[in-house]
Amino acid sequence: MPGIVVVGTQWGDEGKGKVIDLLSDDMHMVVRFQGGNNAGHTIVYDGQTLKLHLIPSGILYPHIVPVIGNGVIVNPRVLIEEMDNLASLDVDTDRLRISHNAHLILPYHEALDGLMEERRGGGGLGTTRRGIGPTYADKAARVGLRMQDMADPAGFREKVRAAVEERNRLLACAYDSEPLDAEEIAGAYEGYAKRLRSCLADTSLLVKEALDRGRNVLFEGAQGLMLDLDHGTYPFVTSSNTVAGAACAGAGVGPRDINEVIGVTKAYVTRVGAGPFPTEQDNEIGNAMQEVGREFGTTTGRRRRCGWFDLVILRYAARLNSLSSMAVTKLDVLSGFDRLKVCVAYRCGGEVLEEFPQLSQVFARCEPVYEEMPGWMSDISGARSLEDLPEKARDYLDFISARSGVPISLVSVGPERQQTILLDGGGEPLSQGRFLFQDDLPL
Ligand code: GDP
Ligand code: IMO
Ligand code: MG
Repeated sequence: MPGIVVVGTQWGDEGKGKVIDLLSDDMHMVVRFQGGNNAGHTIVYDGQTLKLHLIPSGILYPHIVPVIGNGVIVNPRVLIEEMDNLASLDVDTDRLRISHNAHLILPYHEALDGLMEERRGGGGLGTTRRGIGPTYADKAARVGLRMQDMADPAGFREKVRAAVEERNRLLACAYDSEPLDAEEIAGAYEGYAKRLRSCLADTSLLVKEALDRGRNVLFEGAQGLMLDLDHGTYPFVTSSNTVAGAACAGAGVGPRDINEVIGVTKAYVTRVGAGPFPTEQDNEIGNAMQEVGREFGTTTGRRRRCGWFDLVILRYAARLNSLSSMAVTKLDVLSGFDRLKVCVAYRCGGEVLEEFPQLSQVFARCEPVYEEMPGWMSDISGARSLEDLPEKARDYLDFISARSGVPISLVSVGPERQQTILLDGGGEPLSQGRFLFQDDLPL
């Protein structure tokens, strides 16, 4: 029963889409377990770029069963747009399965997300304004609407009417904002319900059956550890748990069904939206990373803030996710730097901290303690094995692996599938079959 969780170890956008697409070749099922269309996962194949927000990143393989688990929040309009876009590319989405228990994002959630951001002032939290916070808040308050509610059109219309009526009062009184049209919303969602009906399933059971048959199931994380609702840089976080443990609750499986956890780790660090970021380079170094790495948000198009690699965060990610290995991405982006800095600890008020501090006011004041290394200053985008990498690039990888205690199972040197080096964690190159647990199972 090979269950593999893939999560981001930083502030999101580590390259999870690329890594998951690559690993999916050997999977039977790819399951999203948290987040919503705040995620933007990019896959580049044969020169084409595909951006996915809700549909699991294994979708390009016809043998994959893509699953949207109960922990995901679904904007059905966005999901259907994504399905239509894939259909126009001749990608079949009929295999998609969605949990009856996944909660729905409604227009009032999106409206409130935007209004709350504006109310916060000073740039707010920098949310994606996709309604993520308000939808998870309704789920926790037990007033959310779920996919399964759409199965009963008359009952659903009533629920939408009641919810919109109440939110309109909130919009008017608290935000002096225009009311939403309940009938229009109910009508649109009835259409979405018809379209998505055939996808609804007991996805927890589907996943368990696949695992029990020994098939490979990949659990696809969105965002990254530092955006985790409990463990990230609260309140500058998203509204779900992004740690590997969330795969269990968000897909409906037990912890003993997880065999491996891969942390996707960018060779430097980026962050979109507001919040502390100790290694941020708000200068020509950050600008160069941004430009070479094309660091623009996949979902909102915002410019990503960039900075040096942070080992304190990686060690924190290793601990919270019990990482078995990491996939280091975008190593090629560092090729133009003659000196590289890696943050090995923080300094705060005369104290040196090796662990991520629990108190947010401490983290906000942390200054990075750097160790410097020479850069390799040559193009590595054609490297396909460790031997193809310059020694200094290997030293950089060794340094972050040795100082975090996390073996590296994959190195990415470009956005395309083939721009990848697969490793066994001990430095020996491995075949493409590294993640292939059982390749001869019937689908
Ligand atoms: P995700 O949210 O973690 O899936 O990451 P995004 O897709 O939002 O952002 C990662 C970006 O980096 C995408 O544009 C990818 O195509 C690109 N990318 C992924 N791996 C590499 C790599 O190794 N090198 C370069 N240059 N780009 C990469
Ligand atoms: P992927 O899966 C990067 C950030 C937003 C904001 C904060 C809260 O592509 O890595 P939200 O809309 O979730 O309430 O916004 O979280 N954020 C992401 N940043 N990658 C993502 O997803 C993100 N999803 C949310 O920018 O700072
Ligand atoms: Mg992204």
